[in-house]
Amino acid sequence: MEVLKLNDTAKLLHLSSEETKDILDKHIIPNIKKASKSRDTYHVPKLLIDYALKILSLNKAKEFKKLHIDDTTLNTYKNKNGVKTISFSNLKGGVGKTSIAANFAYNMALLNKRVLLVDMDSQANSSRYFANQYFTGRSIKSLFDKMTRKEQMDADTVKEFIIPIEFCNAKLDLLPSELSLGRIVEFSRSVFTMPHKKLNDILKLIKDDYDFIVIDTPPSTGLSLHMSLFASDYVSIVTDAEDFSVNGLSELNMEIKEIVDETDHIVSVDSIFINKVKKSNIHGVYIEAIANLALSEGIENVFTVKDSTRFKESQNLHIPLVEYKKELEKKLVIADSILSYAVEKAMEA
Ligand SMILES: Nc1ncnc2c1ncn2[C@@H]1O[C@H](COP(=O)(O)OP(=O)(O)O)[C@@H](O)[C@H]1O
Ligand SMILES: [Mg+2]
Repeated sequence: MEVLKLNDTAKLLHLSSEETKDILDKHIIPNIKKASKSRDTYHVPKLLIDYALKILSLNKAKEFKKLHIDDTTLNTYKNKNGVKTISFSNLKGGVGKTSIAANFAYNMALLNKRVLLVDMDSQANSSRYFANQYFTGRSIKSLFDKMTRKEQMDADTVKEFIIPIEFCNAKLDLLPSELSLGRIVEFSRSVFTMPHKKLNDILKLIKDDYDFIVIDTPPSTGLSLHMSLFASDYVSIVTDAEDFSVNGLSELNMEIKEIVDETDHIVSVDSIFINKVKKSNIHGVYIEAIANLALSEGIENVFTVKDSTRFKESQNLHIPLVEYKKELEKKLVIADSILSYAVEKAMEA
């Protein structure tokens, strides 16, 4: 996917950069805005600019209304190589898996990618990220229930449990979780010979509807994590910069290698988010250790995210970081690395 910056977008639209900024800030054309110290950078999928120009004559550009993209254009906008599934994981809780997974999913949706966010943690935090709702009896747990009872499962059955989310400028789908998910997942061990394949079996039925499936995983080894890894093409490791986390990283890496060895399914670590970073010497030491580990494993995408109360604030308000940033009307640097990663993945796809 070709992504253009502000100046090239302005040129194509035959507008000044101020006018173009206005159009992009109103999200008339889907885009991602990235704050930097000197000036904001915009990332705009070129295909959507071409489309805007196709349906509106050039001199009408100033009167842009929100783009309603038709199916044919959406088809050309699909990932060339099919759906990509990515798990955000760590064996430790409270490091920011849910925050980063939900924001990554939202950013992808802002770029008009078709996104499904799957919550595989029975704490159901990502299910509640965009609205404070509970999904008892309406979650992925019911799908596992049906599977263990050997009920017929098809795409329509899965779709019954998918919740459409429309938030500000983006649309995405959610396959929510609930508290009893862990129990039914463990129970499935006694029913199936290859229980780790069961999430993949569910997602296979609906994967053609999406460009990206984002899985938020539980903070422990166990079948839910194995199922998530088996269903994934990539893993993004989310960690904090603490002693225990550095050890935990190697353990998670071993889990991932086990999946590859035991099942022949290729899943690779694609990125590491070092989260909740404070300005302290000891954090510096752990960041270096994690960066070295990444280097030795050939992981190129290493991001750091500062510790900031904005995370909790935005989560309590159920607002993704990029939208909260607008509300605060200031630059929110903590949102940047998640944005960069989303843009990079969207461009690759
Ligand atoms: N960079 C950060 N700075 C400060 N707080 C953060 C940061 N990232 C996440 N948090 C907060 O830490 C808590 C745990 O985050 P969460 O995403 O739920 O972690 P996990 O899914 O790994 O358990 C949440 O309250 C969240 O708002
Ligand atoms: Mg979580």
